[in-house]
Amino acid sequence: MRIDVLTLFPEMFESPLSHSILKRAQEAQVVDIVLTDIRDFTTDKYRKVDDKPYGGGPGMVMMAQPVFDCFEHVRKLSPDAGRVILLTPQGQKFDQEKASELSRERRLILIAGRYEGFDERIRVGLGAEQISVGDYVLSGGELAAMVVVDAVVRLLGGALGDEESAKDDSFSEGLLEYPQYTRPEVFRDMKVPDVLLSGDHGKIAEWRRQQSLERTKKSRPDLLKDITMVSKGVKGGHNEKSD
Ligand code: ADE
Repeated sequence: MRIDVLTLFPEMFESPLSHSILKRAQEAQVVDIVLTDIRDFTTDKYRKVDDKPYGGGPGMVMMAQPVFDCFEHVRKLSPDAGRVILLTPQGQKFDQEKASELSRERRLILIAGRYEGFDERIRVGLGAEQISVGDYVLSGGELAAMVVVDAVVRLLGGALGDEESAKDDSFSEGLLEYPQYTRPEVFRDMKVPDVLLSGDHGKIAEWRRQQSLERTKKSRPDLLKDITMVSKGVKGGHNEKSD
């Protein structure tokens, strides 16, 4: 996969891209992540990228011209048209399903904005979809773009090492992940549940499923609404269907 990120702050991406899974995925050529500075496409001597909104109001708006010119330059760097995404709090909320959908693309072109938002002609003219990483306002789209890059790349085949797996991640089946333990068996009087030491894989799987359901019910009941659950005996469960 190729991911282009158009941003006013390419340096902000340096650290996240040079550690852990994102670093290894790039080294293994599972993903090629290319940062392009929108400011390099300004045409005036002040390298201006924003201006006052028509109609008045506070804040500044990202101008269409530098973003369009930057996009048109980047677009030609690879033959795939790519899926064009603006990071903005007005977008569709990003979740694991969206990450999985995006991980099946050959190319993503992410555009991170600053200021109060983008000139609407950017969204319309570039045929971009909008993604929000949550119902809060960040100072810009850079952190949101990093969230999307990280969640997508770890789903790409070959991105995770042998010992890592995206299969059991929270949300991978629409549920939160079950509790995990590692050595020692007892830590400050807190003991690892007996079932995990039993060696009975069937019982362990059942216990984990039960824990996932209980955790989800307690912390994120909204997640249970749409899923058909293959569960048995969860007391007080709502909307779970068993089969
Ligand atoms: N830019 C500012 N806030 C954002 C958010 N919540 N999601 C995506 N981009 C943003």
